[in-house]
Amino acid sequence: MEAVLSSKFYITSPIYYVNDIPHIGHAYTTIIVDTLARFARLKGKEVYCLTGTDEHGQKIEQSAQKKGKSPKEYVDEISRNFKNLWDEFGISYDHFIRTTDDYHIKTAQMAFLKMFEKGDIYKGKYEGHYCISCESFFTKFQLIGENYCPDCGKETTLLQEESYFFRLSAYQERLLKFYEHNPNFILPKFRRNEVINFVKDGLEDLSITRTTFDWGIKLPQNLIHQDHNNAKHVMYVWLDALINYLSALGFYNDLEDRRDFWAANYHIVGKDILRFHAIYWIAFLMSLDLPLPHHIAAHGWWTKEGAKMSKSVGNVVNPKEVVEAYGLDCFRYFVLREVPFGQDGDFSQKSLMERINSDLSNDLGNLLNRLLGMSAKYFNNALQVDLENLKKHYSTEFSQINKVLKSLETYMEEVQTNRYLEEIWTLFSLGNGIIAKKEPWNLIKEGKNEEVAELLIFLANLLIKSALCLSPFIPKSAESILSVFGLKAESRNYKKFVLENGLLPQIQLCAIPALFPKVENILLEEKETKNSQNPTTNTPLEITNPILKEDFFKIEIKVGTILSAEELPKSEKLLKLQVDLGEARARQILAGIKAHYTPQSLIGKQVCVLANLKPAKLMGELSEGMILAAKDEKGLTLITPQNLKKNGSSIS
Ligand code: MSP
Repeated sequence: MEAVLSSKFYITSPIYYVNDIPHIGHAYTTIIVDTLARFARLKGKEVYCLTGTDEHGQKIEQSAQKKGKSPKEYVDEISRNFKNLWDEFGISYDHFIRTTDDYHIKTAQMAFLKMFEKGDIYKGKYEGHYCISCESFFTKFQLIGENYCPDCGKETTLLQEESYFFRLSAYQERLLKFYEHNPNFILPKFRRNEVINFVKDGLEDLSITRTTFDWGIKLPQNLIHQDHNNAKHVMYVWLDALINYLSALGFYNDLEDRRDFWAANYHIVGKDILRFHAIYWIAFLMSLDLPLPHHIAAHGWWTKEGAKMSKSVGNVVNPKEVVEAYGLDCFRYFVLREVPFGQDGDFSQKSLMERINSDLSNDLGNLLNRLLGMSAKYFNNALQVDLENLKKHYSTEFSQINKVLKSLETYMEEVQTNRYLEEIWTLFSLGNGIIAKKEPWNLIKEGKNEEVAELLIFLANLLIKSALCLSPFIPKSAESILSVFGLKAESRNYKKFVLENGLLPQIQLCAIPALFPKVENILLEEKETKNSQNPTTNTPLEITNPILKEDFFKIEIKVGTILSAEELPKSEKLLKLQVDLGEARARQILAGIKAHYTPQSLIGKQVCVLANLKPAKLMGELSEGMILAAKDEKGLTLITPQNLKKNGSSIS
């Protein structure tokens, strides 16, 4: 993989809209970026890590108006909130870009001009359904019902205006070839087909300027000189925003020249903005004749108790509050461990507490405490053994450790942070297990001091290697663990202990305070939830259509993951899904949910499937099961397990 061969490493987060306070979703994206950047530094790479804020567009202009502020005043304030939060969180970004910065404006205008001069931009008339909230246009076929945005469900506005267009349609074939030749470009891999299908369905030229509002980047002066009418155009916010990845490196502006960092190794994004990056951005870069990024990695969404977080519902999780209550590393560990990359995750204080108490406190914290306790008690913190004997007596364990360490880089390349952490945790089980097996407290009584010293030095080496690998994830805690052995999380140590399997036969330990104290109760007050009315009455309820248990046992309901989803052109209601139920092949299921879900939003979702329904043909297509959903006057929602379950798990 090129990301490994080159010594420069460029990673970006999305730039955040400044119409909101930073929430856990934003923190998640930024923490993933920070972790990957730290990991690359640990491997000795020269890293450039970029984050920032996306400050133009009609939505922001409107938010400022509502607050009675000028757009600039408004964006200055909110951008500062983001920057301050990342500083408080110790995010290791190298540059914080704002799309209102002069150098960025220059780059965006130059890029526009270059694409124009190449013949990829032309003037036309636009008519389309525009969602202000998502800053996106949709065709009428993409809308939900008559007029609703397929991404956020809000009402769209029909717009007709003079507009410049980017010839996206001309790039369809080149894009498809690019995806074909770069199978790892889109991560996780299950999202790849979604993008490919979107492109295969046909790309329309993209409207890239607006004339109905002002808060945006003006067209380049040359074009305004050519035609004064052009002065009323501002750039489409997504074109402006995507170009930030070039501005920060000094493309077409006077900023320090860091163009040798291009092309980006990773653009980390949420699944909702994958299309903009994997399609539009790539086409813009092709038009600019620039090299293309190595990976676009799209994570899933965080919900709160299963519901989308939104200000109006009042269920937005504030990452600052969570970190103040539970600690930064605990929060980082939780978000990086709790969900497989690409899947949605549900935030609750209970699951956060469980992770802290069981993984961090019990498995890791205890192992370190036991090592510290026994080293102090039996050896006054100074231990030494014969290296060859250590290797010989623990050869099986060391080869297990080395195997795990070897697997880690691949997980990181695929941004599978949860798998990476799971693997490291097998080492803590190994360490704790071996203490239980050897019972060193008895060995000491039998005078087998040498054997105990060897065990403790084995554990010390295990912890050194693990802490080095953990340092990008939980930087402060990993530093503390390493400080016990007088070491630092530096790339030369990573090379020595992780890549080259180095071992210390002699250690001098220095005690540190307990790292992960147990959390007994939730630490943040939960917002009021409505008490369900629960009348106690002896009146029996009337059960409609009663069935016997035996009837119920005939039903097989299983958990499955939706691998792909597409529309059935002939049907107004049905979507065609491929669902992995842990069987030899995926099942094809036709579900009447087209009015409620876009195909894109379903991919990667876990659902409950009636699995032993007799297969049937609907509109000429086979359907091999039924997806369960709940319906009320507000609409239809798919039933999904609260935590991720193995595909094929039975529901009873
Ligand atoms: N400004 C654009 C990005 C332009 S990048 C050239 C934007 N901004 S955003 O503030 O709306 O979203 C930024 C990131 O936060 C996206 O990656 C989005 O997926 C992520 N999240 C926003 N809410 C989220 C959750 N509830 N959960 C996880 N991440 C989500 O889009």
